[in-house]
Amino acid sequence: MRPKVYITRRIPEAGLRLLQADCEVEVNPADQPLSRQELLERVRDKDGVVGLLTDRIDREFFEVASRLKGYANYAVGIDNIDLTEATSRRIPVSNTPGVLTDATAELAWALLFAVARRVVETDRIMRSGSWSGWGPLQFIGTDITGKTLGIFGAGRIGTAMALMSKGFHMPVVYCSSSGRRNDILEGEIGARLVNFDDLLTESDFISIHAPLTPATRHLFDHRAFARMKATAFLINTARGPIIREIDLVEALRAGRIGGAGLDVYENEPQMAEGLADLAHVVLLPHIGSATVTSRDNMAILAARNLLAMLAGRKPENCLNPQIFSDI
Ligand code: DGY
Repeated sequence: MRPKVYITRRIPEAGLRLLQADCEVEVNPADQPLSRQELLERVRDKDGVVGLLTDRIDREFFEVASRLKGYANYAVGIDNIDLTEATSRRIPVSNTPGVLTDATAELAWALLFAVARRVVETDRIMRSGSWSGWGPLQFIGTDITGKTLGIFGAGRIGTAMALMSKGFHMPVVYCSSSGRRNDILEGEIGARLVNFDDLLTESDFISIHAPLTPATRHLFDHRAFARMKATAFLINTARGPIIREIDLVEALRAGRIGGAGLDVYENEPQMAEGLADLAHVVLLPHIGSATVTSRDNMAILAARNLLAMLAGRKPENCLNPQIFSDI
């Protein structure tokens, strides 16, 4: 019998076709997240599930999905998954690293440019027809070349972001929970490992690329903003709750930092009150991986991972490989 698979929201065809070739696949027909109740209903009789960062994959989920042989996250971030619970039930779990690295780093740069050079704000002025012609004091932004770039979280995406700074001759400092990274960061870019406090005080631009964990939740709060340069910009393409959003609004209002470029939010799809009223922020709807190639490759990777798990094999991107090593 073909395994039964549920996909919690439509994913690109490339991945869907791979799964349909070997499995009986059901897809959430609505292009919106399932309610909790619907999610639990749909996964009850499934052998495998492809889910999203908006799905909470926790104890209740695993209890209900009692036939589950594998869960494939259609995302690299895994803060939506209770991995300890999955492992204790010997259910393998996978994610999609690598295929969205450049796309996400490129978007972080887009935010950095946009907020430093007031791109969105001035685009609005042009569209409104209210521009009165060139003036020496108009729309003054911030230089990027030669400024210090601070990378918080030196994994794949943080490293790609740092690498892309080479053309702008930026000194790079970085902060990493796994310590010194001598390869690309130090070897190729000459980046310097610093502690969190030095990252805050030295950087002109800080770009967040760390996973959301208990240690990073709300790390960027009013204390952090007080340590940053008043001219510095904060960019976040990682996970919203790493920033305490009400503190960010407060810091921006008070001019304690220069501006922010955000792709992710503490309570998506909502934003903290007041954030959208500020001129010196650029706000995007969580589109870091939203390029054709990245999204296709995420779908292919998620499908390949799930097919492996359904066949009882360790998937390429296994998050709990110990399940396979202690058989
Ligand atoms: C991820 O993969 O974690 C992104 O946030 C969405 O692609």
